[in-house]
Amino acid sequence: MRISEDFLKKEDLRSQLFGETWRTLIPEVFRDVPTYYDKGNAVASLGTCACWSGIFAQAVHRRLRRGAKVLDVCSGIHEVPLKLLALDPTLEIHAVDGSPHMTAEGQRRAHERNLTIHARVCDAHVLPFPDNSFDAVTLQFASRHLEIIRAFKEIHRVLKPGGIFCHDDMLRPASRIVELPYLAYLRFSVWFTAKLFGSSAESMRCVGYFAKAIRHFYKPRELDELLKGVGFVDIESRSFLTGVMSYHISTKPSA
Ligand SMILES: C[S@@+](CC[C@H](N)C(=O)[O-])C[C@H]1O[C@@H](n2cnc3c(N)ncnc32)[C@H](O)[C@@H]1O
Repeated sequence: MRISEDFLKKEDLRSQLFGETWRTLIPEVFRDVPTYYDKGNAVASLGTCACWSGIFAQAVHRRLRRGAKVLDVCSGIHEVPLKLLALDPTLEIHAVDGSPHMTAEGQRRAHERNLTIHARVCDAHVLPFPDNSFDAVTLQFASRHLEIIRAFKEIHRVLKPGGIFCHDDMLRPASRIVELPYLAYLRFSVWFTAKLFGSSAESMRCVGYFAKAIRHFYKPRELDELLKGVGFVDIESRSFLTGVMSYHISTKPSA
């Protein structure tokens, strides 16, 4: 593993700025949101989240063989697993998330569709699986809340050699012209959505955090470098509006 000094410093800063929020506020926020999570995302992102997430699921599905064993990390209400199973019901999907409330809502949605998703509640930085377990790992809309190097190393560990890591998130836009209005819009839309859905006091306290977390996050090219630093190869990426949404699909090298 070869992570640059700049990225190590950036991770130190992210932990200093957001460590307390990640540990204390984020679990409370996701206690509150399961029942309106998808509607809230649709309002806050003007529908782009669901649309981009569909594009991501198609891109992942194209790379999977039938019956592949897939782990979705920070699975929330199982948005990614449900989309993948709709495309290929033969997949064996496992899901982990730190929130029992999000997981329960995801399981409810899976049972409603007669689908099986093997879910566990745990911390994304310490995955409860042996080395080389999965053909693919997905991680969508969550790495902003994580110590990303630790989490990526865990994902690398549980992937089989030749397995793929499919990452999808709102990154820091590469263009300042996009970044400034985007972050201003994000501050407003998160506040508006929280008000609209009557969110908890903890969610209201996180309103400024979401835009700040993105300002201190990675641009698409930087994420390429970080993935390489952790040991992934053959990185393919696609971005919308220079990183407002961006997915990266990379491979753990065969032994
Ligand atoms: C914005 S939601 C994304 C959910 C889902 N991946 C999706 O695409 O809709 C972020 C999720 O990350 C989870 N999460 C945040 N920090 C975590 C951690 N350290 N370990 C496990 N899950 C975590 C939250 O509980 C929440 O369900």
